[in-house]
Amino acid sequence: MSNLVYVLNGPNLNLLGLREPEIYGSTTLDEIAGMLEDRASELGLTIDMRQTNHEGMLVDWLHEANANQARAVLLNAAAYTHTSIALLDAIKAITVPVIEVHLSDPKTREAFRHLSYVGMAAAATVEGLGPQSYLVALEKVARGEV
Ligand code: DQA
Repeated sequence: MSNLVYVLNGPNLNLLGLREPEIYGSTTLDEIAGMLEDRASELGLTIDMRQTNHEGMLVDWLHEANANQARAVLLNAAAYTHTSIALLDAIKAITVPVIEVHLSDPKTREAFRHLSYVGMAAAATVEGLGPQSYLVALEKVARGEV
């Protein structure tokens, strides 16, 4: 089985650290990538971490993860979580397990964040733990829970 784990991040997450720090904290996406890479190397996993502001790019990367037979995808689709039937269909179209990740807990925020198209197809969801959400999701992959 492949040791490769894709970590895909959607719109506005490139601004982590600057963006609404009272909600998302002061840790940057690069710092989260570093934390994940450190833990992944202990677990014998390899991280491929990416960010895009474009919905179709996330669809393409999900297809790529599948074609490359990745172990799993950690997906923080950000606002597309709540709008994207294309992402729902992409997750359903592939066999690689996808874990939905969020820094905040969307279910405790505005009503428009309560619906998750990603969550309808994801193998698991980890949310509300800040950067730890990504690490908890990685541990789930390492333990073979997805
Ligand atoms: C987010 C939650 C989403 O509702 C929001 O649109 C984001 C970030 C999170 O990580 O908490 O951009 O996915």
